[in-house]
Amino acid sequence: MILLIWATLLLSVRGSSAETAEKQHCDYRGYCVTLTEGELTAEAGLCVVIPCSFTTAYGFTPQSIVWYKCEQSTQQCDDSDMIFHSKKYNQNVQPGFRRRVSLLEPDVSQNNCSIRINNLSDSDSGSYQLRVNGDRFGRPDGYTFSQRATVSVTDLTQKPSVMIPPLTEGKQTTLTCTAPGLCSGSRPKISWMWREAGGNDSYITENIAVVKTENLTAGTKRYRSTLDFSPSAEHHGTNITCKVSFNGGTTTEKTLTLNVNYVKKVQISGNRNLKKGETLNLTCSVESFPPSFVAWTKRNCMGSLIRNRRSSTLVIPDVRAEHSGQYVCEAMYMERPLLSYVNITVSLDLVINCGSCRPVLPWVVAGVSLSVHVLVIILISCLWNSRKKVKPNQEDRTYMSLQRTDTSSEYEVIAQC
Ligand SMILES: *[C@@H]1O[C@H](CO)[C@@H](O)[C@H](O)[C@H]1NC(C)=O
Ligand SMILES: *[C@@H]1O[C@H](CO)[C@@H](O)[C@H](O)[C@H]1NC(C)=O
Ligand SMILES: *[C@@H]1O[C@H](CO)[C@@H](O)[C@H](O)[C@H]1NC(C)=O
Repeated sequence: MILLIWATLLLSVRGSSAETAEKQHCDYRGYCVTLTEGELTAEAGLCVVIPCSFTTAYGFTPQSIVWYKCEQSTQQCDDSDMIFHSKKYNQNVQPGFRRRVSLLEPDVSQNNCSIRINNLSDSDSGSYQLRVNGDRFGRPDGYTFSQRATVSVTDLTQKPSVMIPPLTEGKQTTLTCTAPGLCSGSRPKISWMWREAGGNDSYITENIAVVKTENLTAGTKRYRSTLDFSPSAEHHGTNITCKVSFNGGTTTEKTLTLNVNYVKKVQISGNRNLKKGETLNLTCSVESFPPSFVAWTKRNCMGSLIRNRRSSTLVIPDVRAEHSGQYVCEAMYMERPLLSYVNITVSLDLVINCGSCRPVLPWVVAGVSLSVHVLVIILISCLWNSRKKVKPNQEDRTYMSLQRTDTSSEYEVIAQC
């Protein structure tokens, strides 16, 4: 059983490595070609490199490299199937392949027949055949290798990579979108698009966005578009899309949501003029990204007094005069304190009800004395009642007992009769 598993593992490892391995095929005359075993896969819109090298028979000097694409079943591709000729670039080459195919090593004497095919589309899937032209002992000669390279073009799955540095309101910044693939084909169209919260799309014109080409090794290029802009609070939460359109109609896009660091004015709400006994209820709010921490403090002659930490609302029930004063809402936005002040006045109810306090005073005295009198009267009457209540109770009891004895004696008298 274990042996069987080992055998399958070994076989599968051999199978997968064989797919990407390069293999040399030689004929009896000494013409050899080294190509990738199995299929080369590439994505539409991008490019494929067919790695290839060859050796020729004794006395043969290679002068040009020719590639064909034709049905696998055909023994040998026709001249009409020519897709590349290292000497006659555009003559006789299939129009669809013109300027799309290039040798990685332009010096044919290096025996390096590797080619890159740019701007791939589905129709580029198929088998490719190599021919080397040259001369042998002074006479023109050529050789077509029977071994072929197979290419399979799949749908584009790679997405552009969008780089967004940290965004801060009002600070000029640059967004970068890099097209996938390292090819040398034609420049793709790179466009930027905003998607606002309302769902409206708007395209950004090319003069704001700049497409840059970066020359890399082996003739490959990287295409990127940069967009300079100054973000505002309104950009926070909106979507930006970078869309890359390759020659041949293949498109790919990437959408990112923008996070803009911003802070708006500190807002304080709540009643500032209170009467004694009411509840002070203040709310401090700051609209910002990232969110701010809010704390309330109160200023008094002794310095500041911490009332409430980490809460946007300050509630003090049953306020008194000493609660009057300046309160401070301290919003901590990205380690930067933002202060906002509010003055609270707590007044006595009586002072507020009338314009002046003098006419009130006699009434207050009269009221107090009246209530004292009333209280005394109530107290006395209570005492009186309780005393009155005790007496009749005792009388009742004696009366009742008297009655009972009376009646009983009466009955007894009757019974006696
Ligand atoms: C063919 O040339 C390319 C480009 O110079 C190189 O990367 C590749 O390794 C060469 N292949 C061989 C088999 O020498
Ligand atoms: C922004 O994009 C995300 C996904 O990338 C999506 O869920 C969201 O609805 C988009 N918002 C708008 C306003 O289009
Ligand atoms: C890249 O190479 C092309 C020619 O192949 C040249 O025109 C262009 O200026 C180069 N760009 C840079 C950034 O070097």
